[in-house]
Amino acid sequence: MVFKKSQGTVGREIAYIPVMRDRALPKFLAAGATACLLAASCALFNAYEHSPAVVAAASDSAPAYAANGDMLPPTNYREWIYLSSGIDMSYSPNPAGMTMFDNVFVNPEAYRSFVATGTWPDKTVMVLEAREALSKGSINQHGHFQGTSVMGIEVHVKDVARYPGGWAFFDFASPTANGKVFPPVAPCYSCHREHAAVDTTFVQFYPTLLPIAQEKKTLSDAFLKEEAAAPPGK
Ligand code: HEC
Repeated sequence: MVFKKSQGTVGREIAYIPVMRDRALPKFLAAGATACLLAASCALFNAYEHSPAVVAAASDSAPAYAANGDMLPPTNYREWIYLSSGIDMSYSPNPAGMTMFDNVFVNPEAYRSFVATGTWPDKTVMVLEAREALSKGSINQHGHFQGTSVMGIEVHVKDVARYPGGWAFFDFASPTANGKVFPPVAPCYSCHREHAAVDTTFVQFYPTLLPIAQEKKTLSDAFLKEEAAAPPGK
């Protein structure tokens, strides 16, 4: 994914690269072919189509890595615990050009640990999946539903022995490609550190987890200060 220039103090906009296929879901092929109507996507689609098969995939929810430090794709994340969906969330005053959903999942072991403690254990893997928002289809007259194409996947992983701050961010160009780590200077780290409610994760947007963090008193000082300065509205 590519970052556009930030417009505000915490501007984050991502230009999504359409993801073309998933081995488990042949439908993705059709979706990719449709996206091919756009010239740029077409080049990408063909590139994926003809690229060699993925080296390996993580077999369970523990993070696993290739020898070069890339992360193996968490291929079964759709069977994990669902935390939330955002639609067109943007941290810049200017709205993004394209309507998108993002869906957040976490591995079940980490979720159960959070429920008990209000924070994340080592080896937590959180997946943010971007999907296009559609409005014309079937009987729908208003509002948006999610398309079958995954537009991008980002992963936030806690691996204390491996990463100095405990956590690392990865970008996956497709659901089956290995993930590339973002360097510690990337804006991912600073925004999550400065604004996220629990242990650099955005629990303030995960409705089943926020009450647990409030009860266990695990909300970060930075978040509590921000809330005190500007209490949430409706
Ligand atoms: C300006 C702030 C900001 C920046 C910069 C940012 N994020 Fe996030 N991120 C968020 C917010 C807000 C959420 C909650 C999304 C939701 O509720 O759907 C989030 C959620 C996530 C999640 C879900 C797990 C979690 O930690 O809550 C992942 C994975 C993620 N971001 C990856 C990234 C990556 C990779 C980058 C850098 C390329 C990045 N983010 C940069 C604000 C940011």
